[in-house]
Amino acid sequence: MTTTGAKPAGAENEAEAAQSVRQMFDAIAPRYDLLNHLLSANIDRLWWRRTARRFKTVLSEPEAAILDICCGTGDMTMALLKHRPVGARPILAADFAREMLSRGARKFGAREAGKPCAVALEADALHLPLRSGSLDLIVTAFGFRNLANYEAGLREFSRVLKPGGQLGILDFSEPGGLMGKAYAVYFRRVLPAIGRMVCGKDGPYSYLPTSVGNFPPPAELLRLMAATGYAECAWQPYTFGIAGLYTARRIAVA
Ligand SMILES: C[S@@+](CC[C@H](N)C(=O)[O-])C[C@H]1O[C@@H](n2cnc3c(N)ncnc32)[C@H](O)[C@@H]1O
Repeated sequence: MTTTGAKPAGAENEAEAAQSVRQMFDAIAPRYDLLNHLLSANIDRLWWRRTARRFKTVLSEPEAAILDICCGTGDMTMALLKHRPVGARPILAADFAREMLSRGARKFGAREAGKPCAVALEADALHLPLRSGSLDLIVTAFGFRNLANYEAGLREFSRVLKPGGQLGILDFSEPGGLMGKAYAVYFRRVLPAIGRMVCGKDGPYSYLPTSVGNFPPPAELLRLMAATGYAECAWQPYTFGIAGLYTARRIAVA
């Protein structure tokens, strides 16, 4: 298996790749939400909601321990919170880019009294400050692709999940066929140009299509999941396969 991880331009090793990703998200944090909704024509909201619905059973358990890793500005976390009952244990929402996380915390931390909330945690997905076997569910939306080492990420998630605990990875994909060709023009040419205009920087929105192009296709990521301690590995395409949700369970150790 050749899969490794994200390689932003100029990064020579995994530590530099992680640093470059963190700096990039810190830099675009003030414009991140605006650009996200603009560039996806608000389809991202449907994807977050659909992902949250997929896990509604575990989300409805008040004592379930849940992590949204790479939570960024918190929209996935907010979609998960809609399925939490009143008085439920708070969701942990973690990210290593402080500027992203602090914006998220303003959404999911400050809620009306009695409403389910989330707690912000500044942490690296590859070194989670959490006990082994402590979580019922980990969800990550558009963050996994940015990890410097995908295998290490899956192993770390498996470490902190309880046996039988669930994993959901929502991320972009490259659709095939005619639709794929049309989308590639938008994604590789139009999107970086709009991103550059709104955010005033060249890097981040050129990095996005490159990172999706380098991300392993579903069959390869599913093989990696199966090889790193997961069962019931599956991929559900969303919106013609522009995005998709990987789901799996940590295998119960015999
Ligand atoms: C594209 S944003 C997604 C944010 C949010 N989940 C969403 O759906 O809008 C990716 C996020 O992953 C975070 N991230 C990337 N690598 C990370 C790592 N190793 N540890 C923690 N966060 C990471 C970035 O800081 C960024 O906030």
